[in-house]
Amino acid sequence: MTILITYASKHGSTREIAERIAKTLLELGKQVETRSMDTVWDPEKYEALIIGSAIYYGSWLKVATEWVHRHQTILTTRPVWLFSSGPLGTEVKDDEPQPKEIAEFQKALKPRDQRIFFGALDHSRLSFAERIMLKAVRAPEGDFRDWAAIDAWVASIARDLTVSSKESLV
Ligand SMILES: Cc1cc2nc3c(=O)[nH]c(=O)nc-3n(C[C@H](O)[C@H](O)[C@H](O)COP(=O)(O)O)c2cc1C
Repeated sequence: MTILITYASKHGSTREIAERIAKTLLELGKQVETRSMDTVWDPEKYEALIIGSAIYYGSWLKVATEWVHRHQTILTTRPVWLFSSGPLGTEVKDDEPQPKEIAEFQKALKPRDQRIFFGALDHSRLSFAERIMLKAVRAPEGDFRDWAAIDAWVASIARDLTVSSKESLV
């Protein structure tokens, strides 16, 4: 079974989360491929998919939303996990809004699980417009990604896949 980890990332931090997910799954004995979403035309090739996007202005990146819509039919026939990467700082408030598309994706894809992970922000990588926008909302700069939380989530995915593949043998 090959698991696809596919991501949409503007400045690279979500790609690095996808790469970490792949590395951890490999260490747990799973077969994986990691691909940027704009290069994936053949999701039916994979037995399970982990799909993630950075959050910008409360939404997944457009390329990610469009990709999910384009491949929705096949995605409903596979085990799917979703992740979003965005919040900056170390606290997520209870009333933190989900990315706009998540409610619709939950309904349409029935993912096994979905998570929001803290993101990272490096001002030197941003466009002028992004810098102005972030100054206005006082977003903190830094790398807030919680690798332990990401690894724990991946371990739960690996367990879930092991149980599913044993069940399909009986
Ligand atoms: C212009 C701009 C808008 C952002 N808007 C949001 C947002 O609405 N919600 C959120 O949680 N994070 C937001 N972020 C934080 C990013 O999601 C975070 O930096 C993420 O790690 C970026 O991922 P990437 O490096 O893969 O592009 C924003 C960042 C920028 C630069």
